[in-house]
Amino acid sequence: MTDFRPGETFAKEMDSADPLSVYRGKFHIPRNAEGEDRIYLVGNSLGLQPTRAMEFVWEEMEMWKTRAGGGHHAGKRPWELYETTLSDKTARLVGAKPSEVIVMNSLTVNLHLLMVSFYRPTKDRYKILLEAKAFPSDQYAVASQLKFHGFDPEDGMIEVSPPEGESTIRQEDILEAIDKDGKSIALILIGGVNYFTGQSFDLAEITQAGQNQGCMVGLDLAHAAGNVPLNLHDWGVDFAAWCNYKYINAGPGSVASAFVHEKHGNRDDLPRFAGWWGHNRETRFEMPKQFDPLRGAEGWQISNINVLSTAPLLASLDLFDDVGMQSLREKSLLLTGYLEYLLDEASTEAFTIISPRNREERGCQLSLQFGESAKSVHKRLNDEGIICDYREPGVIRVAPVPFYNSFMDVFNFVEELKKLL
Ligand SMILES: Cc1ncc(COP(=O)(O)O)c(C=O)c1O
Repeated sequence: MTDFRPGETFAKEMDSADPLSVYRGKFHIPRNAEGEDRIYLVGNSLGLQPTRAMEFVWEEMEMWKTRAGGGHHAGKRPWELYETTLSDKTARLVGAKPSEVIVMNSLTVNLHLLMVSFYRPTKDRYKILLEAKAFPSDQYAVASQLKFHGFDPEDGMIEVSPPEGESTIRQEDILEAIDKDGKSIALILIGGVNYFTGQSFDLAEITQAGQNQGCMVGLDLAHAAGNVPLNLHDWGVDFAAWCNYKYINAGPGSVASAFVHEKHGNRDDLPRFAGWWGHNRETRFEMPKQFDPLRGAEGWQISNINVLSTAPLLASLDLFDDVGMQSLREKSLLLTGYLEYLLDEASTEAFTIISPRNREERGCQLSLQFGESAKSVHKRLNDEGIICDYREPGVIRVAPVPFYNSFMDVFNFVEELKKLL
């Protein structure tokens, strides 16, 4: 690991030696009124626009303009097969087989659809284990699934909390909860990287422990996909879902993705909410009465894909494919390590880093717990052209993204923060 040094010279040296620095030019960096780059540290919320995104959207706009309905069957990417053009690259991004992934819907919708198939409670085994402070949408979704099946969420949700006075959850506490309540747990639904603290878990170990107890294991990878290396197939995860608008840079509210392990992909005994787009392509347009699901994750589709919201994803996935998750992770460890180093060097008591200090237990985000000053610090940073985000209570999340953030971004952020404090 690099020995970090204080001072601007070091940041400049790191940028010159960075093999990925060329990728910054492949994204649109937000600018201020003077046309200068702002420092964008919220790729954990909305990733930046790849410069080629517009081209991919434009192609489809042109197709719609000139060929209209003919676009379903013509052009480089006929709309009737549009989702299939994304499977190989999506699979490589999350360590899956192409047949195990599908680009469709939005994240919470996908979690619900997958729970229809993989949350099959019985009288004795009906509980759902998740991390305390999971993203609220997951908590609402889980509670509503429990209620839908006639269970009381108060009783049915097992939330694993950090120890008293700590911010992050201990992996061993998750394993212990699985061990203790495993026989009553139908489903474990864990976030790959926690949205609030940036903590990542050993997902292979959790999957194994859950499945040893007969539980289904699903993942919300909103903050993990495109941020940390994943190996969904080999880990044997039952299902997963993620959005593509954070680290995957496909634009606000863009289409999401889902993973169904191949051991479940061809199961006809699983219930699912069906729609015509999940039906066998050979006979789809014969409009048969009987639903015949496509094999693999594709069989979970309901509707035809939203082409315009999917087009930017092609631009982003090309970049991921070009650089590879491993190289991104290597830079990410350096960039976030450097941020941590500078924040520690600042030796201020104005905030505490609540993200894990072990770099293997986090993605690129560091969460800074402030006291009462949090909101005003956040606003003043924004006034100075530094975009990071605020989450109640009192946390500023800072996410240097290896694709487009530089060591100078990190250096300038910490210099500005020190001035404000
Ligand atoms: C961890 C996590 N889960 C779920 C969601 C909800 O996403 P969507 O609105 O795309 O369903 C988000 C959104 O930021 C999230 O961060």
